[in-house]
Amino acid sequence: MEKPILIGPFRQLLPMTGLPLKGALSDEQLPIVENAGVLVSKGRILEIGSFHKMQSQDVKLYPIEGDQVCMPGLIDAHTHICFSGSRARDYALRNSGKTYLEIAKAGGGIWDTVTQTRKASIEVLIQDILIRSQKHLAHGVTTIEVKSGYGLTVDEELKMLRAIKEAHEKAPQDLIATCLAAHMVPKDWNGTPTQYLEEISTKLFPILKSEKLANRVDAFIEQSAFSAEDIKPYFKMAKEQGFDITVHADQFTTGGSQVAVEFNAISADHLEASTQKEVELLGKSGTVATALPGASLGLGCDFTPARKLLDAGAALAIASDHNPGSAPMGDLMAQAAILGAFEKLSNAEVLAGITFRAAAALNLKDRGRLEKGMVADFISFATNDYQEITYHQGQMTPCNVWKDGNLLMT
Ligand code: NIG
Ligand code: FE
Repeated sequence: MEKPILIGPFRQLLPMTGLPLKGALSDEQLPIVENAGVLVSKGRILEIGSFHKMQSQDVKLYPIEGDQVCMPGLIDAHTHICFSGSRARDYALRNSGKTYLEIAKAGGGIWDTVTQTRKASIEVLIQDILIRSQKHLAHGVTTIEVKSGYGLTVDEELKMLRAIKEAHEKAPQDLIATCLAAHMVPKDWNGTPTQYLEEISTKLFPILKSEKLANRVDAFIEQSAFSAEDIKPYFKMAKEQGFDITVHADQFTTGGSQVAVEFNAISADHLEASTQKEVELLGKSGTVATALPGASLGLGCDFTPARKLLDAGAALAIASDHNPGSAPMGDLMAQAAILGAFEKLSNAEVLAGITFRAAAALNLKDRGRLEKGMVADFISFATNDYQEITYHQGQMTPCNVWKDGNLLMT
């Protein structure tokens, strides 16, 4: 029998255990294990505790030199890292005062990325995802959600989702696929939005199941994409077929979060335009509210009202939304820390949003906290104080990343 591996001692370890899924958190609530050890066997956590006590057991030791702070591997619960091409031109046009519609008319917007992504081969898309995953790994992200949504035909969405599946097999991280065929009505679709959604749900959904490509369905509810009324029958169909639901909601106008709560969605993401009415609705619901500060930074617009959501009792996750149009930065820790500074979030709230609350946004119960039985995904930073991590706003990157108990980066 292989001996368990003991990793440590860590000056501080944040297990993120014992904290509620929903609502405000203070830093006083944050459990900290001093001089901690992590005992790992077969990719899972066996025990977290005092390094010196655990040292007496029959273990293989992986010593940690110098002061380090350990925490769960980060979970990025919303990205679009399967894409081809750049939208640097959109960014420049926006910053020189052009509106979203003017940019779309000038050949930019989501449709531009659809055109580029359709031209790319599956091999190129796999390579692009792997390069971007590697960048996320350097930031400590061990689980990444990846959406389709730049194909917008049955075949092109399949190409994207097959690329995500294959990249998952090759990437060091877990990639969690989501079908976002309802990203916008394709410009070359000859029919109504409802007919497009019917085509997707009848022709694409069964293949997602048979090829195990995705068990999550997302839709963009917005004036420039789909109306709430368009999406309701689509979500009904998705739920009947056993898919988890997630929504691009209230980004520019409200309406999406209402649908999310009505369909008991796992998460409602964006929420920059949510008013007190939507905040309270989400606060009372079982739907995770996911803030995407990278989209606010990329578009130069308001942040999601994260403070209000937490105070209303919501479970707040924070994700990067890494995509070529609105959020090209793709640095989860930097964005979460910046959201914290603008929205007055405690460190506990920021770190919960990129660990166990992000796991909840993906309906994953085996990660986001460091305790017995959880996957051994954890990261460490070369510091003696966990408060340094958000203070450096993403500039302090992890010195070590473990995925399934394997050290990936030093
Ligand atoms: O999450 N809001 C819609 N979808 C993406 C943007 C996609 C794009 O502009 O390419 C988002 O921000
Ligand atoms: Fe998005």
